[in-house]
Amino acid sequence: AVEKTFVMVKPDGVQRGLIGEVLRRFEQKGLKVVAAKLMNVPKSLAEQHYAEHRERPFFGELVSFITSSPVFAMVLEGESAISVARTLMGKTNPAESAPGTIRGDFGLTIGMNIVHGSDSPESAAREIGLWFSEGTVAYDKAVD
Ligand code: CMP
Repeated sequence: AVEKTFVMVKPDGVQRGLIGEVLRRFEQKGLKVVAAKLMNVPKSLAEQHYAEHRERPFFGELVSFITSSPVFAMVLEGESAISVARTLMGKTNPAESAPGTIRGDFGLTIGMNIVHGSDSPESAAREIGLWFSEGTVAYDKAVD
């Protein structure tokens, strides 16, 4: 089925000038960019985005990292977009992600793993709703 997924280039990826490289890989695969923005992440948004990790020992680090400098947030659309994007990103821990994947080629540590992508249809719907307000995702509806 055609799906939408939420993907962001994290602060480490943006600081290293990898927005274009990351975006190129998704576009080359055939996923369509239907929304995108460079933004600073408010602490409240960071806490909501990572709510499922609230009890983890690294939660504080996670929130302070993602709010430390701008991220490039986007919505990608295509056939099986959620799993396809995850395959292109590689395993969460860059030390274990295969060469040829985004994290495998550009990352080294789990905290600074370049990209985030939704892991299920439920999280994709939740994350897209959190990061993009209605009417700002292209193709979803015509502009008046
Ligand atoms: P992400 O896909 O953004 O979702 C949760 C993030 O938590 C994950 O990528 C990692 O960057 C981060 N993470 C997971 N485990 C650890 C850890 N042990 N220490 C720091 N960050 C972690």
